[in-house]
Amino acid sequence: MENRLNRKVLLGVTGGIAAYKSAQLTRLLVKAGCEVQVLMTPSAHDFVTPLTLATLSKRAVLTDLFVRDGSGAWNDHVHLAQWADALVIAPATSNTLGKMAQGLCDNLLLAVWLSMPKGTPVFLAPAMDLEMLKDPASQANLNRLRERGARVIGPESGELASGLVGEGRMSEPEAIVSAMHDTLVGHSKLNGKRMLVTAGGTQEAIDPVRYIGNRSSGKMGFAIAEEAALRGAQVELISGPVELKLERPGISRTDVIAAADMAAACRAFAPRADAVIMCAAVADYRPANAADGKIKKKDAALQIALEPTEDILAWMGANKTSSQRLVGFALETDNELANATDKLVRKQLDLLVLNSLRDAGAGFGTDTNKITMLAPGKDPLALPLMSKREAARAILDRLEELL
Ligand code: CTP
Repeated sequence: MENRLNRKVLLGVTGGIAAYKSAQLTRLLVKAGCEVQVLMTPSAHDFVTPLTLATLSKRAVLTDLFVRDGSGAWNDHVHLAQWADALVIAPATSNTLGKMAQGLCDNLLLAVWLSMPKGTPVFLAPAMDLEMLKDPASQANLNRLRERGARVIGPESGELASGLVGEGRMSEPEAIVSAMHDTLVGHSKLNGKRMLVTAGGTQEAIDPVRYIGNRSSGKMGFAIAEEAALRGAQVELISGPVELKLERPGISRTDVIAAADMAAACRAFAPRADAVIMCAAVADYRPANAADGKIKKKDAALQIALEPTEDILAWMGANKTSSQRLVGFALETDNELANATDKLVRKQLDLLVLNSLRDAGAGFGTDTNKITMLAPGKDPLALPLMSKREAARAILDRLEELL
């Protein structure tokens, strides 16, 4: 199965002959849905050109802490460390490993490593010659870094640049990505699955300047899309107008405005989706005739005739394939459980997430939510108030059980 990582990855490249494999590693990380920022040590430049890695990663390669062009500019190691979901150093030379183990930081890569929030996953792919690797100092450095939580990938045995044969070869880029995948994504059933997620509210035009909308912020749908991406899913996010930016790579986003646009985008993608989560607050009605020009103010009351929009979720339920799983949301104010159960059956859903407006902290605009999940033949699962991120994880856990 395709390994999708969908993460912001710092790739540290240090000065060893195995640096020629960094180009392939960059390519594989990008293919796995990652945003890759390459950090080279000065001596890595002797082995591979920054141009190669910049072209493959589609980002300028960074080497120096200070930009020595008289501008006073510098590369912010703290910001880079905070930005990353993971750091991989491949190849990691004995020099760099030694400095890391001692906490030295005489280049940008080392300064970033020291600045990383503790707990950010770090992967090291050592590459050095036989005796260098066997040396007690190298082994002690590696052990020290392992104790600090770094995952050491390889090195492998084989022919070395010196002509000697033995342990010290850097692991192949495929093996590095696969090891990163095992640790970061694990065995999620969403790995490699195509998911359609909708988010935000819709805006239904009254005239060119006014619309009927709702208070949906899109936060719940965005959290679901990002958590699904972290589990290796290939996510298509269809969003109504929201103020949010995606913080995760590997998600394809389509912005729509009205219910009709959202319906068209959903219908186009749905046949390819393994799972669909309809989190958007789609308008149920739209003005039957949006005015071409701005409606002028008059003394008399204004009547706007409304017509129903297409129920996208109902369409999804009626058209879903046998292997596709469909998740709907419901916001009820009265008879919550009874209404939600009815919606689950009526719209042929596999899972329904009920949020109640009655609970403080749940619903529109907040960073928290209180949800109850209903699935056919299962008891409702009522969860306490939690962050929308945690709620997203709970929903995806439940979805994984259904896949
Ligand atoms: N939904 C949809 N298309 C619409 C309206 C809603 O796909 N035109 C989806 C929402 O994305 C959500 C679910 O339907 O997943 C529930 O929306 P809600 O407004 O609670 O339900 P309705 O079906 O509109 O039912 P009611 O108004 O009776 O509560």
